[in-house]
Amino acid sequence: MLYSIIGLEETTMDLVNARRRALLAAALAMPFAASGQSGCGAATPQDMEGPFYKPGAPLRANLAEAGSTAGRMLLTGFVRSAECKPLAGVSLDFWHADDKGEYDNSGYRYRGIVSTDSQGRYRLETNLPPPYMGRPRHIHVRLQRLGGRVLTTQLYFPGEARGANSALVVKMERRADGRTASYDFVISSPLNP
Ligand SMILES: [Fe+2]
Repeated sequence: MLYSIIGLEETTMDLVNARRRALLAAALAMPFAASGQSGCGAATPQDMEGPFYKPGAPLRANLAEAGSTAGRMLLTGFVRSAECKPLAGVSLDFWHADDKGEYDNSGYRYRGIVSTDSQGRYRLETNLPPPYMGRPRHIHVRLQRLGGRVLTTQLYFPGEARGANSALVVKMERRADGRTASYDFVISSPLNP
Protein backbone atom coordinates (compact mmCIF):
# COMPACT_ATOMS: atom_id res chain seq x y z
CA MET A 1 0.00 0.00 0.00
CA LEU A 2 2.82 2.31 1.01
CA TYR A 3 4.61 1.59 -2.23
CA SER A 4 1.46 2.21 -4.20
CA ILE A 5 0.98 5.59 -2.44
CA ILE A 6 4.61 6.49 -3.10
CA GLY A 7 4.16 5.37 -6.67
CA LEU A 8 1.05 7.53 -6.98
CA GLU A 9 2.89 10.53 -5.54
CA GLU A 10 5.77 9.97 -7.94
CA THR A 11 3.35 9.77 -10.83
CA THR A 12 1.64 12.96 -9.67
CA MET A 13 4.98 14.75 -9.27
CA ASP A 14 6.04 13.53 -12.70
CA LEU A 15 2.89 15.06 -14.15
CA VAL A 16 3.48 18.35 -12.26
CA ASN A 17 7.08 18.48 -13.40
CA ALA A 18 6.11 17.67 -16.96
CA ARG A 19 3.48 20.44 -16.82
CA ARG A 20 6.07 22.91 -15.48
CA ARG A 21 8.53 21.96 -18.23
CA ALA A 22 5.82 22.40 -20.85
CA LEU A 23 4.89 25.84 -19.49
CA LEU A 24 8.54 26.90 -19.36
CA ALA A 25 9.12 25.69 -22.91
CA ALA A 26 6.04 27.56 -24.09
CA ALA A 27 7.20 30.74 -22.34
CA LEU A 28 10.68 30.47 -23.87
CA ALA A 29 9.19 29.86 -27.29
CA MET A 30 7.13 33.06 -27.17
CA PRO A 31 8.51 35.89 -29.30
CA PHE A 32 9.95 38.88 -27.48
CA ALA A 33 7.24 41.47 -27.10
CA ALA A 34 7.29 45.06 -26.01
CA SER A 35 6.15 45.65 -22.45
CA GLY A 36 4.56 48.93 -23.43
CA GLN A 37 0.96 49.93 -23.40
CA SER A 38 0.62 49.84 -27.14
CA GLY A 39 2.47 46.57 -27.63
CA CYS A 40 4.30 45.72 -30.82
CA GLY A 41 2.08 45.95 -33.81
CA ALA A 42 -0.27 48.55 -32.38
CA ALA A 43 1.00 52.00 -33.21
CA THR A 44 1.01 54.62 -30.49
CA PRO A 45 -1.99 56.87 -31.13
CA GLN A 46 -1.58 60.49 -32.08
CA ASP A 47 -2.97 63.18 -29.83
CA MET A 48 -3.42 66.92 -30.20
CA GLU A 49 -0.32 69.10 -30.16
CA GLY A 50 -1.97 71.97 -28.31
CA PRO A 51 -0.95 75.62 -28.57
CA PHE A 52 2.30 75.55 -26.58
CA TYR A 53 4.79 73.61 -28.70
CA LYS A 54 7.96 75.56 -29.27
CA PRO A 55 10.71 74.34 -31.62
CA GLY A 56 14.36 74.60 -30.68
CA ALA A 57 14.26 72.93 -27.26
CA PRO A 58 17.70 72.01 -25.89
CA LEU A 59 19.03 68.46 -25.97
CA ARG A 60 18.80 67.41 -22.35
CA ALA A 61 17.48 64.50 -20.33
CA ASN A 62 16.79 66.37 -17.12
CA LEU A 63 14.10 69.07 -16.94
CA ALA A 64 13.55 68.90 -13.16
CA GLU A 65 13.86 72.10 -11.14
CA ALA A 66 15.01 72.21 -7.53
CA GLY A 67 12.45 74.87 -6.60
CA SER A 68 9.43 73.05 -7.99
CA THR A 69 6.63 72.08 -5.62
CA ALA A 70 5.87 69.11 -7.89
CA GLY A 71 7.39 65.73 -7.19
CA ARG A 72 10.15 64.34 -9.32
CA MET A 73 9.51 61.74 -11.94
CA LEU A 74 11.71 59.53 -14.06
CA LEU A 75 10.14 58.56 -17.37
CA THR A 76 11.75 55.75 -19.34
CA GLY A 77 10.82 53.39 -22.13
CA PHE A 78 11.51 52.14 -25.61
CA VAL A 79 10.66 53.22 -29.11
CA ARG A 80 10.03 50.26 -31.39
CA SER A 81 8.64 49.55 -34.81
CA ALA A 82 5.42 47.64 -35.29
CA GLU A 83 7.62 44.61 -35.87
CA CYS A 84 9.17 45.07 -32.40
CA LYS A 85 12.47 46.31 -33.80
CA PRO A 86 14.18 48.79 -31.43
CA LEU A 87 14.53 52.15 -33.14
CA ALA A 88 17.75 54.02 -32.44
CA GLY A 89 18.19 57.73 -33.03
CA VAL A 90 14.56 58.70 -32.59
CA SER A 91 14.25 62.18 -31.12
CA LEU A 92 11.60 62.74 -28.47
CA ASP A 93 10.77 66.41 -28.02
CA PHE A 94 9.02 66.75 -24.65
CA TRP A 95 7.19 69.75 -23.22
CA HIS A 96 4.83 70.17 -20.30
CA ALA A 97 3.47 72.64 -17.78
CA ASP A 98 5.27 73.71 -14.60
CA ASP A 99 3.92 73.21 -11.08
CA LYS A 100 1.54 76.17 -11.56
CA GLY A 101 0.11 74.71 -14.74
CA GLU A 102 1.88 77.21 -16.96
CA TYR A 103 4.01 76.65 -20.06
CA ASP A 104 7.19 78.61 -20.55
CA ASN A 105 6.62 80.40 -23.83
CA SER A 106 9.55 82.80 -23.53
CA GLY A 107 12.21 80.26 -22.58
CA TYR A 108 12.65 76.50 -22.43
CA ARG A 109 11.70 75.48 -18.92
CA TYR A 110 10.21 71.99 -19.04
CA ARG A 111 11.17 71.61 -22.65
CA GLY A 112 13.82 69.19 -23.81
CA ILE A 113 14.77 66.71 -26.51
CA VAL A 114 16.20 63.26 -25.86
CA SER A 115 17.17 60.54 -28.33
CA THR A 116 16.84 56.80 -28.21
CA ASP A 117 20.05 54.80 -27.82
CA SER A 118 21.14 51.81 -29.89
CA GLN A 119 18.58 49.64 -28.08
CA GLY A 120 15.73 52.06 -28.66
CA ARG A 121 15.68 53.29 -25.06
CA TYR A 122 14.95 56.81 -23.87
CA ARG A 123 15.07 58.45 -20.45
CA LEU A 124 13.75 61.76 -19.12
CA GLU A 125 13.85 63.21 -15.61
CA THR A 126 11.40 65.96 -14.78
CA ASN A 127 8.81 67.19 -12.31
CA LEU A 128 5.32 65.75 -12.46
CA PRO A 129 3.11 68.24 -14.31
CA PRO A 130 -0.20 69.17 -12.65
CA PRO A 131 -3.66 69.08 -14.15
CA TYR A 132 -4.59 72.52 -15.48
CA MET A 133 -7.49 74.32 -17.13
CA GLY A 134 -9.73 71.28 -16.80
CA ARG A 135 -7.26 69.01 -18.53
CA PRO A 136 -5.84 65.90 -16.90
CA ARG A 137 -2.16 65.74 -16.02
CA HIS A 138 -0.20 65.16 -19.25
CA ILE A 139 3.11 65.47 -21.05
CA HIS A 140 3.36 66.42 -24.71
CA VAL A 141 5.85 64.74 -26.99
CA ARG A 142 6.81 64.77 -30.65
CA LEU A 143 8.74 61.78 -31.95
CA GLN A 144 10.72 61.84 -35.16
CA ARG A 145 13.30 59.76 -36.94
CA LEU A 146 15.74 61.49 -39.20
CA GLY A 147 13.87 62.13 -42.44
CA GLY A 148 10.73 60.50 -41.08
CA ARG A 149 7.32 61.84 -40.30
CA VAL A 150 6.48 63.27 -36.90
CA LEU A 151 4.28 61.52 -34.38
CA THR A 152 2.73 64.07 -32.04
CA THR A 153 1.00 62.74 -28.97
CA GLN A 154 0.57 63.10 -25.21
CA LEU A 155 1.17 60.83 -22.24
CA TYR A 156 -1.31 60.59 -19.37
CA PHE A 157 -1.26 59.17 -15.88
CA PRO A 158 -3.14 56.28 -14.26
CA GLY A 159 -6.42 57.26 -12.64
CA GLU A 160 -6.25 60.77 -14.10
CA ALA A 161 -6.69 60.17 -17.79
CA ARG A 162 -10.35 61.09 -18.18
CA GLY A 163 -11.21 61.55 -21.80
CA ALA A 164 -7.80 60.37 -22.95
CA ASN A 165 -6.97 57.32 -25.04
CA SER A 166 -6.14 54.55 -22.58
CA ALA A 167 -3.29 53.47 -24.87
CA LEU A 168 -1.50 56.69 -23.89
CA VAL A 169 -1.44 56.09 -20.14
CA VAL A 170 1.98 55.47 -18.60
CA LYS A 171 2.75 52.79 -16.07
CA MET A 172 3.49 54.47 -12.77
CA GLU A 173 5.38 53.38 -9.69
CA ARG A 174 6.06 55.32 -6.49
CA ARG A 175 9.46 55.02 -4.86
CA ALA A 176 11.04 56.67 -1.85
CA ASP A 177 12.97 59.06 -4.09
CA GLY A 178 10.07 59.94 -6.38
CA ARG A 179 7.96 58.39 -9.09
CA THR A 180 8.98 56.27 -12.00
CA ALA A 181 6.88 56.13 -15.11
CA SER A 182 7.37 53.99 -18.17
CA TYR A 183 5.93 54.09 -21.62
CA ASP A 184 6.92 52.22 -24.77
CA PHE A 185 6.16 53.90 -28.08
CA VAL A 186 5.39 51.93 -31.21
CA ILE A 187 5.88 53.70 -34.51
CA SER A 188 4.05 52.14 -37.42
CA SER A 189 6.06 51.21 -40.48
CA PRO A 190 4.84 54.02 -42.76
CA LEU A 191 6.36 56.52 -40.33
CA ASN A 192 9.80 54.93 -40.68
CA PRO A 193 12.11 56.20 -43.39
FE1 LIG B 1 -0.82 70.68 -22.54
